[in-house]
Amino acid sequence: MTILALAASSRENSLNAALLDVILDELAPAGFAVDRVDYTLFEETPHYSARSEQTEGVPQPMRDLAARIQAADGLILITPEYNHAIPGTLKNGIDWLSRVSVTLMAMKPTLIGGASAAPYGAWRAIRSLRPSVELLGALTLPYMISMSGVTSKADITARFGDPLARAKIDPALAGFRDLVALRQGKGSA
Ligand SMILES: Cc1cc2nc3c(=O)[nH]c(=O)nc-3n(C[C@H](O)[C@H](O)[C@H](O)COP(=O)(O)O)c2cc1C
Repeated sequence: MTILALAASSRENSLNAALLDVILDELAPAGFAVDRVDYTLFEETPHYSARSEQTEGVPQPMRDLAARIQAADGLILITPEYNHAIPGTLKNGIDWLSRVSVTLMAMKPTLIGGASAAPYGAWRAIRSLRPSVELLGALTLPYMISMSGVTSKADITARFGDPLARAKIDPALAGFRDLVALRQGKGSA
């Protein structure tokens, strides 16, 4: 089973890349193969415009990414919050991907999360990511992983050790793991 994993930042010491690292470590016992997306792919993709789509079509790197999404058994999408929304580069990528197929993520178990030093833990970004990927058919987990007040990977790792935080993290991780297994016909529920 292959998981496509994306953190929507290529920044050195990115909090969101660190959150993705920790989530993947937590899920390691499930034995998923991980296809991790290099976010520079999104950053280097031209802005969507209907005119450029008409003349040049969907950029090949986005077509290639769409094939990787289609091949995955589950998606983990981690995003920073920019001005109470997702980064424009992420929305732009989703717009291009939707032009490959409007059912690109059909019924793929999808775990969404985000990290921020601020008190709301990228909550508004992760809330706003949901409808865009659900439109493409993603089966989003009801629990999302929102990390507030973190400024380093060490903070994120420590939060994963906090029983209060785990009360929300565990259902998200377990739900994702079990849903991927169920979709593969390997679950027991
Ligand atoms: C343009 C811009 C807008 C931002 N807006 C918000 C915001 O609305 N809420 C928030 O919590 N953090 C906001 N931030 C802070 C980012 O969430 C923070 O820099 C975060 O660490 C970026 O993610 P990364 O560490 O994975 O690169 C903003 C940062 C930038 C550059």
